[in-house]
Amino acid sequence: PRSIIIDTDPGQDDALAILLALGNPEAIEVIGITAVAGNVPLALTSRNVRVICELADRADITVCAGADQPLLRPLVTAEHVHGKTGLDGADLPEPAMPLDPRHGVDFIIETLMTRSPGTVTLCALGPLTNLAMALIREPRIAPRIQEIVLMGGGCFEGGNITPAAEFNIFVDPHAAKVVFGSGAPVTMVPLDTTHKALTTPARVAAIKAIGSKVSRATVGWLDFFERFDVQKYGSEGGPLHDPCVIAWLIKPELFSGRPCNVEIETTSELTMGMTVVDWWGVTQRPKNAHVLGHVQADGFFGLISQAIARL
Ligand code: BDR
Ligand code: CA
Repeated sequence: PRSIIIDTDPGQDDALAILLALGNPEAIEVIGITAVAGNVPLALTSRNVRVICELADRADITVCAGADQPLLRPLVTAEHVHGKTGLDGADLPEPAMPLDPRHGVDFIIETLMTRSPGTVTLCALGPLTNLAMALIREPRIAPRIQEIVLMGGGCFEGGNITPAAEFNIFVDPHAAKVVFGSGAPVTMVPLDTTHKALTTPARVAAIKAIGSKVSRATVGWLDFFERFDVQKYGSEGGPLHDPCVIAWLIKPELFSGRPCNVEIETTSELTMGMTVVDWWGVTQRPKNAHVLGHVQADGFFGLISQAIARL
């Protein structure tokens, strides 16, 4: 299996990404999960990760709290999308499992420096603060990373928190700049991809039909999350962003994409956090990311249902 660290700010879609990983042990080994401030503050994201692990009966997973603030800018949160707790929609118990005493950034560095080079993948589902801090503090990790797969940015799709920027990149554009400039292999899952992975009524019904405690929590989360997105996008369901990162590792043939240069806007207030993707190769700038495009949504939701049914 691929060995991964999930860096995350749950988030209902983050929660489903974690469940997708935990429900595919033959394809994915979750070494640990690091929480970052993003959708809600760190105290809540680090709590929510443990709520999700316990829902999946995986209190054995190492969970570390990481950065509580972006590198340079003040934290922007998204309670308007995810609710007050970040994980509204399902009624789940307070977690009993402890946080690991290590800082998330130390855990990332330690893991990469002790495991064999090229065997650890970082899956980033929130602002890139923890990854950037790790790369800055210990630059020797960059060539040891097998792949960084991140949900963030947009290509032709525009933004979802400002007209130009996607939330994860907008919250910490300076961190994104560090990650895209690190030389590590980056796969970027932009809004262009995730906006094709819509939680249609039929797909939600398929999850509901599983009839387990995990499926009930999932349906609750999706109903909550969707309320905002359906209204906003006028589509038949909300986009399920973060699980696309994990699905890429399990079944890459569901996705199309191409290598591109990606630069991050960090100075203009108007377009702060915009990902400038050279999709058409009109510059000579180095191709520093594999940018995904289309996703076969039915195959993707098939993976989600299968994982939930197994947990
Ligand atoms: C991203 O922002 C968050 O609200 C979601 O969890 C996802 O990671 C989508 O822009
Ligand atoms: Ca997220």
